[in-house]
Amino acid sequence: MSVSFPPGFLWGTATAAYQIEGAAREHGRTPSMWDTFSHTPGKIEHGHTGDIATDHVNRRSEDVRLMAYLGIGAYRFSVSWSRVQPTGRGPAVQRGLDFYRGLVDDLLDRGITPVLTLYHWDLPQDLESAGGWPRRETAYRFAEYARIVAEALGDRVKHWITLNEPWCSAFLGYGSGVHAPGQTNPVSALRAAHHLNLGHGLAVDALRGALPPRAQISVSLNLAAVRARTHAPADLDARRRIDALANRIFTGPMLSGAYPEDLFKDTARLTDWSFVHDGDPAAIRRPLDWLGVNYYTPTLVSAPKDPEADRRDGHPDSGHSPWPCADSVAFHQPPGEQTEMGWSVDPSGLYDVLMRYSREAPRLPLVVTENGAAYADKMAADGTVDDPDRISYLHGHLAAVHRALAEGADVRGYFLWSLLDNFEWAHGYTKRFGAVHVDYETQLRTPKASARWYARLASTGVLPDVRDVPALSDLPLA
Ligand code: FCB
Repeated sequence: MSVSFPPGFLWGTATAAYQIEGAAREHGRTPSMWDTFSHTPGKIEHGHTGDIATDHVNRRSEDVRLMAYLGIGAYRFSVSWSRVQPTGRGPAVQRGLDFYRGLVDDLLDRGITPVLTLYHWDLPQDLESAGGWPRRETAYRFAEYARIVAEALGDRVKHWITLNEPWCSAFLGYGSGVHAPGQTNPVSALRAAHHLNLGHGLAVDALRGALPPRAQISVSLNLAAVRARTHAPADLDARRRIDALANRIFTGPMLSGAYPEDLFKDTARLTDWSFVHDGDPAAIRRPLDWLGVNYYTPTLVSAPKDPEADRRDGHPDSGHSPWPCADSVAFHQPPGEQTEMGWSVDPSGLYDVLMRYSREAPRLPLVVTENGAAYADKMAADGTVDDPDRISYLHGHLAAVHRALAEGADVRGYFLWSLLDNFEWAHGYTKRFGAVHVDYETQLRTPKASARWYARLASTGVLPDVRDVPALSDLPLA
């Protein structure tokens, strides 16, 4: 039986500014906190930085041509705040905005829908030095930056995303410290989460004020499929606690206008949450046009803390937990197949997340804004890159999306992470997530088998068999 997706379903690929752009000093760009962090010895594998990355700033047209060649209908990219407003305050840099305008024009010329993320983790260093996300002021700065970008690109870009994965910004950036700015203070992480929420709400208002009514505004959350190892009450309570810290801390205020009471109770020994001012939850709950879901792997927990449990979560272990007040929770490696990140392959987690939010927010369409896998891809002597594991990962997860659609979830699109191999944060260039292989010495781009497979899917809307990998010359637009 053929697995067909609805007409108009958005087939895309995704990237993020710091992971691909390079050109760290062009356009008057000054460091973001990721530049500072990646240049700090010991923070990134092999001391890699995003200085050059995939050199996308200089290869933008080639990359857009590649997408067109593959027949990809939509492209999710992020804007580097430091490129358009280097210090995070004051007037915008026109040359920085022009880069994104050129990118968007290239996309539109080739019939590719641009999907713009305002913030994918790269806070201007000056704002971080002034206190970063734990400081309330940063939320206001973010709203102003949103307005600047909307005024510059609102005539061309219809789809807008405020934040990418605020959980990572708050808890990996200020809690475990494995991401920029590398702080390890659980109270700062909670304050950051709130100010990211507030920044999101204020930015939605700024965008609505500056964009035409047809604009579609969203946020991308890494909503976790949290599973308890058994049905014992203590394990279920561990799941509840992590669900609050991973999901409801964002969906509560954003979708319902309130933080969950159990989150306040669970973290009471750290903070009284007085940084949440009257009126903040209402300012955070702004109407959205769709919800972006990023999904890679489920989260398996139990209680009490089990010294034998494998705490690997795919992020380097700094010795500091990203989860405030969750010392009673053990994190387990789910059984079965894993990707190169050590993340277990389990498409049912994506199905569960899509079904959960279609129940909890029934009128809000969903878009999978990231899904994909890292594997140790090798280029063969003939210059091809075969990545059957990635095809199988994508096939399984797309079948899960289709199942959710068939059961009533209103899913409007899917974005493969990532278009290109790129700078995978603390892992540097050691993890390859791309559908397109990048040789970091020469910057040569080579579509992997998965890119050709995905191209077939994007052009037909029918899920191909995992063995159905067309040759480049067989692609519709080749
Ligand atoms: C997500 C990030 C993205 C990429 C993938 C693998 O958490 O949003 O930038 O690193 O993971």
